[in-house]
Amino acid sequence: MFDNNRVRIAMQKTGRLSSDSIKLLTCCGIKINLKQQKLIAFAENMPIDVMLVRDDDIPGLVMDGVVDLGIVGENVLEEELLKRISQKSEYSYITLRRLDFGICRLSLAIPVSTIYSDITCLKNIRIATSYPHLLKKYLDEKKIRFKSCMLNGSVEVAPRAGLADAICDLVSTGATLEANGLREVQVVYRSHACLICRTGDINHIKKEVINKLMTRIKGVIKARE
Ligand code: PRP
Ligand code: ZN
Ligand code: MG
Repeated sequence: MFDNNRVRIAMQKTGRLSSDSIKLLTCCGIKINLKQQKLIAFAENMPIDVMLVRDDDIPGLVMDGVVDLGIVGENVLEEELLKRISQKSEYSYITLRRLDFGICRLSLAIPVSTIYSDITCLKNIRIATSYPHLLKKYLDEKKIRFKSCMLNGSVEVAPRAGLADAICDLVSTGATLEANGLREVQVVYRSHACLICRTGDINHIKKEVINKLMTRIKGVIKARE
């Protein structure tokens, strides 16, 4: 049985945000007992439980009220939001704070050998992405029709594998694009990690813990500015 007075926070298990997320909690003085292969980790000195999950699952866990807090990239959050809006399902959450890590951009990239002058070069081509809603919103606004190819991973190999003409994927250092002979041509969305909270009733014991955590996060971020 889970203790309803403990704050549940979801964060990425492995990936770009995981070590910075853990570091943030550690800098806030929270002692987390991390064990390999475990979905849940308990803080020893505060009533906080950490759920280690796939980043893509975090917005949904918060929006469905399964966890109280989540540390997630705005890219993943915005994609889930657009998806839920298109499906007419529930999508409420509160952004408590933008965090100082996880800075990246969702960009369109094409093989270096492809000629490119402007966005109209993308007309009617096939684009591989894990972010179909963000991509569609962007290209709809630009009135560019395209065909999409949904891939949850290995998006960067799609052009070489003959699955797509271009990709729309996250770029942080640019190393992945370079290693795959791709060139960034348009920025679709700029992103940061952020701390989100579920809506609905949260008891006062948990609210106090969340407030305490927020005060500490603010202090930690201020100190590293
Ligand atoms: C993203 C993206 C690339 C990589 C780009 O994956 O899909 O693989 O980061 O970073 P770079 O420009 O520094 O090379 P990410 O780890 O964010 O998420 P995923 O594993 O959920 O796809
Ligand atoms: Zn992911
Ligand atoms: Mg990746």
